[in-house]
Amino acid sequence: MTQAANQPVKITVTGAAGNIAYSLLWRIAAGDVYGKDTPVELALLEIPQAVGAAEGVAMELADSAFPLLRGITVTDDPDVAFKDTKAAFLVGARPRSKGMERADLLEANGAIFTVQGKAINDNAARDVRVLVVGNPANTNAFIAANSAPDLDPSQFNALMRLDHNRTLSQLSLKTSRPTAEFTKVAVWGNHSATQFPDLTYVNEEVDQDWYTGEMIPKVANRGAEIIEVRGHSSAASAASAAVDHMHDWIHGTEDWRTAAVVSDDSYGVDEGLIFGFPTVAKNGTWEIVQGLELSDFQKERIQANVEELRSEREAVQHLLK
Ligand code: NAD
Ligand code: LMR
Repeated sequence: MTQAANQPVKITVTGAAGNIAYSLLWRIAAGDVYGKDTPVELALLEIPQAVGAAEGVAMELADSAFPLLRGITVTDDPDVAFKDTKAAFLVGARPRSKGMERADLLEANGAIFTVQGKAINDNAARDVRVLVVGNPANTNAFIAANSAPDLDPSQFNALMRLDHNRTLSQLSLKTSRPTAEFTKVAVWGNHSATQFPDLTYVNEEVDQDWYTGEMIPKVANRGAEIIEVRGHSSAASAASAAVDHMHDWIHGTEDWRTAAVVSDDSYGVDEGLIFGFPTVAKNGTWEIVQGLELSDFQKERIQANVEELRSEREAVQHLLK
């Protein structure tokens, strides 16, 4: 989906002075989301204390002389940042530190998404796509969608493509085959340690002990492992996954991808929860892969995620309309 050559598409990135944005903005400006023939205009949203640093990021973006980059706005006003935006990456939020679970961030981050959901509702293009990256991403996306009554909840996704990519990477390492060969991988549920990376439909004999005993916990705890080893939460891999997600949402994909999308009651997941499913994208919309026969093992893992997201939803009741 491209625009006329002289019509830039507006893309908003929140948390623009942060670690993820420092990779993400360069990928967007290079044309990796909308395509190499679509000019982009960037809006960088930050909190007032970090607007100065975001200005510095904007200076560096300008210095990169991207042919497709047609303008940069830096602001602490969500109404300005989201005005007419077509794609929003909601990255701005506190990351967890060692020893925390992502849900521990609900209190610190949840309220950000009421304000931004409302500003998107009031200002963004009516067909805006919103990808929530800030943790806990699924429930933050739920809050944002809930704060945007004039938009369809399907316009709000949470990032679980990083979990998907981590699954592909582990499979590739185990089998010595390239990641692109695995077209039916998915990660069900919540972007938390409860997530269920599912190899049931992979076109390769999978060692079951490795799958359940090593691979699932490895992928589910990879975020914590990165924090432990790197000293900071994942940034470049998260940015790369966010680009993958938005790119595929816009341009489509036949291979399964994991997107955390609003549930329509598929596979017994409560309607309205933002849940990681096997999805394909067609005509600019994610579709949950239907008709899969689930084993008891799969059902149990999926149910654990439903329960966790129900309890997160309960914890943010005060932020919901
Ligand atoms: P960071 O601390 O480096 O940057 C966050 C930025 O957000 C800061 O510059 C901060 O000033 C800004 N910010 C805070 N509140 C804001 C608001 N209301 N509006 C605009 N900006 C605001 O953090 P990071 O490493 O870039 O990570 C950002 C978030 O992404 C964290 O919550 C992290 O846990 C999450 N994350 C999610 C995934 C995923 O797969 N879903 C992966 C990695 C990180
Ligand atoms: C990740 O999965 O790397 C991010 O969600 C950061 C974290 O806190 O784990």
